[in-house]
Amino acid sequence: MSVIKPHGYTLSGSFGGQSLMLRPLSDEHLPLLYKWESDPELLYWSEGGEDKPLSYPPEAVRKKYSAVSKTALNFIVELGGRPIGNCWLQKMNLPEVKSMYPVGTDVRRIDMEIGEKEYWGKGIGTAFVRMLVRFAFEEQPTDVLHCFCEDYNIRSRRVWEKLGFKLILTEALPQPQKGRFQYHWRLTREEYMNKF
Ligand SMILES: CC(C)(COP(=O)(O)OP(=O)(O)OC[C@H]1O[C@@H](n2cnc3c(N)ncnc32)[C@H](O)[C@@H]1OP(=O)(O)O)[C@@H](O)C(=O)NCCC(=O)NCCS
Repeated sequence: MSVIKPHGYTLSGSFGGQSLMLRPLSDEHLPLLYKWESDPELLYWSEGGEDKPLSYPPEAVRKKYSAVSKTALNFIVELGGRPIGNCWLQKMNLPEVKSMYPVGTDVRRIDMEIGEKEYWGKGIGTAFVRMLVRFAFEEQPTDVLHCFCEDYNIRSRRVWEKLGFKLILTEALPQPQKGRFQYHWRLTREEYMNKF
């Protein structure tokens, strides 16, 4: 049985004259995930908690992606045919967030990372997350996207802001840790439909 649960969706776009594709993440991408998820600089931004160098061994990476893909559609991000990162659209997994919405609401989250660091800060994250937002509302029955970042992650914050998400909750994090606040970002189907 595969580690990463497969799916059949491919999203096509472009960025700066190159193709920007979101393809199903699969076990063939595990070596790339091992590389990215063992990079302390990447994990500094993608993982909360104490400010100490993190590096996940392959077994932890398999466990993480196996668990997430049970409730998510995971994608590899390819720019001009080169895999540069990954992202996913996941059924909300946090009971305290689900309970913020009426029973039956289809609440989902998006998580994202560009593993190849030279691509940070060029607008690519906003471009592929925009594709995933469109997919969530136009091809999936998502009612609400509810996403997260911590206060120290300005690039992530800007992605949510640029895509029209509203900051609906600021939670103080127990100290000491590198983040002081956890931000909750929300975009509803109605807001999306009115915007586009
Ligand atoms: C988060 C991530 C996916 C964003 O993608 P990206 O392509 O780097 O982001 P973009 O270039 O689309 O947007 C970044 C924005 O942050 C802004 N920014 C970056 N550094 C900044 C700073 N120090 N102060 C103010 N703004 C800053 C950029 O100017 C840009 O905003 P603008 O378009 O208004 O100018 C990517 O940076 C990444 O993978 N980071 C590491 C992992 C991570 O943080 N994952 C998210 C966890 S919540």
